[in-house]
Amino acid sequence: MALPPRFLDELRGRLSITDIVGRRVRLIRKGRGEATGLCPFHNEKTPSFTVTEDKGFFHCFGCGAHGDVIGFVMRSEGLDFPQAVEKLAGEAGMQVPRETPEERARAERQATLGGAVEFAASHFEQQLRAAAGRPGLDYLKRRGLTDDTIRRFRLGYAPDSRHGLRAALEKAGIPEAIAVEAGLLIEPEARDGVGGAAAVRGHPFDRFRGRVMFPILDRRGQAIAFGGRILDQGEPKYLNSPETPLFHKGRVLYGLSHAQKTARETNEIIVVEGYMDVIALAQAGISNAVAPLGTALTEEQIALLWRMAQEPILCFDGDNAGQRAADRAADRAIPLLKPGLSLRFAWMPAGEDPDSLVRAKGAAGFREALGRMEPLVEVLWRQVMADRPLDTPERRAGFRKDLAAQVARIADKAVAEAYRQDVQRRLDELFRPQPKPGFQAGAQFGWQKGRFPGRQPPMPMGGEAARRGITSIQRTPYELILITLVNHPDLIGRHCEAVGEVEFPRGELDSLKGAIVDLAAAEPHLDSKGFRNHLNDLGFAAALEALVARTGHMRFTLPSADLNSAEEGLLHVIGLLREKLSVKPELTATAQALESAMANPGDPTAETTALSRFEAARQTALESESQRRDLDRVPGWNGEDQA
Ligand code: UTP
Ligand code: MN
Repeated sequence: MALPPRFLDELRGRLSITDIVGRRVRLIRKGRGEATGLCPFHNEKTPSFTVTEDKGFFHCFGCGAHGDVIGFVMRSEGLDFPQAVEKLAGEAGMQVPRETPEERARAERQATLGGAVEFAASHFEQQLRAAAGRPGLDYLKRRGLTDDTIRRFRLGYAPDSRHGLRAALEKAGIPEAIAVEAGLLIEPEARDGVGGAAAVRGHPFDRFRGRVMFPILDRRGQAIAFGGRILDQGEPKYLNSPETPLFHKGRVLYGLSHAQKTARETNEIIVVEGYMDVIALAQAGISNAVAPLGTALTEEQIALLWRMAQEPILCFDGDNAGQRAADRAADRAIPLLKPGLSLRFAWMPAGEDPDSLVRAKGAAGFREALGRMEPLVEVLWRQVMADRPLDTPERRAGFRKDLAAQVARIADKAVAEAYRQDVQRRLDELFRPQPKPGFQAGAQFGWQKGRFPGRQPPMPMGGEAARRGITSIQRTPYELILITLVNHPDLIGRHCEAVGEVEFPRGELDSLKGAIVDLAAAEPHLDSKGFRNHLNDLGFAAALEALVARTGHMRFTLPSADLNSAEEGLLHVIGLLREKLSVKPELTATAQALESAMANPGDPTAETTALSRFEAARQTALESESQRRDLDRVPGWNGEDQA
């Protein structure tokens, strides 16, 4: 809507930007018409936010936020331009001029369409409470929704009839043509339009039949479209309104009218995949979640999210599909990044969506899953790294080039520069110089320096293992678990059940594991040095030494690794072993990658390859696990013995 510049100038002139900002920000006047305070658009402890009254501008030296009084209201209240103007005009006692006759006509049209959709929303709500709505109400109750939630989200029911809504619309005097344009009724195809013959048209009929109805509301809470869920099995699971003059699905976020207030107040907005996820989270007290409408996030939706919070949290399934969806979202967001504005990524446990998670484990369980969020740069890095080998100069150069190309897509200069630095730091870390000749496996632990001068350490326990037909590849994951525990004894107490459940191959590794678990129970406060001393005393010195020699190049196992990465690595390995029956090939490939990492001490590339293999194997394991669980739910399915 193009408003006359004169109107906007007068509007700005009548308002004091200091007063309007001052309602939200505690400002300290500095003289010369300037005032400063803490920036409401990013977190800061010392004020870098300035308002200049006679210029009518605000500016933040910290995050670069900048604009006039209209911009301030848009940003701080999450309004679009016309809404902010409307609001400020009200305060200034001005009337917003209605534009051209076409615009006026369009506004009226939308009001009429909106009226029809609103009418349908109320109709469906009534149906849900009527006898005909019984199946719908039962369904929603079965899914754990309370009456209060059902009312709040205005859920309804469309009985299985072709003319239920149509009759109601007719009674209310809403023209069929409007209802068709609003996507509520379907105009049957012309049956005989060939060769100029007159088309025979049937009556329009109800689009939504036999479905639980989820009204899609605009920001003000007005119904503009619907998603209708089938009660049981059937296709499509959700039927959505078509695009209409009111409803452009790429510009809407489901749940926004409910979420926006909390989101803005807490500077946190959570993006989930489905309608039910939004609703279940709200019922559990997490009222700042929204969802796109079954498609990947659009640029417009990302911009909308940034009006609510600086770093929206995107929740995805932990499986490959979720990973791909995250990559797509990252890809869309990268060109749009601005100082302070980014995305964060959270991964749901395998087989769970936020709805199932919050129902099983409550808000706390969901929050816990949010605990391990990743920044956008991490997702980008992993995406470019994917599974590529980085073992030749050409491949490494290719990797650098692809990263640089992604960074170059960032339009904002400051953000692009910060990304360049971050990526460079990661590259330095990844390609850090090879260890000098004379480097000894295990030397970095300060253990028994120089025990294996000038040659590879002997393969430990080879004879015993070979006799039992255990190859070193099969041993690797168990060794990683043990060395991680020895170097981070704190993890034993935390994960003693999980560790206990892993069945180790019989022999020395198994006895070492037993000793480690027992020792941790008897002496819970030992640090890793004390822990090793005790184990040495118990006669495991040689075994420990061999373990270090073989595993000493996986970063997460090292004593220098921080507890979180050690824990993450440990849980990776345990998760992998748990699923090993169903993912044998991946397990073997992973173990091979680990072997090669270990055979090349100090080569971080080999290690990185191994870790990404690891992740791939774990994902496969998780997927097959969740498939198996799905099968288990089917009555009469005889799942394989899980042992
Ligand atoms: P999901 O299939 O993950 O839905 O689709 P969900 O919300 O978990 O559904 P429940 O729990 O089985 O009821 C996520 C979102 O994708 C869109 C909807 O917006 C849905 O909420 N979708 C899905 C469709 O538009 N059409 C479909 O057929 C399926
Ligand atoms: Mn679901």
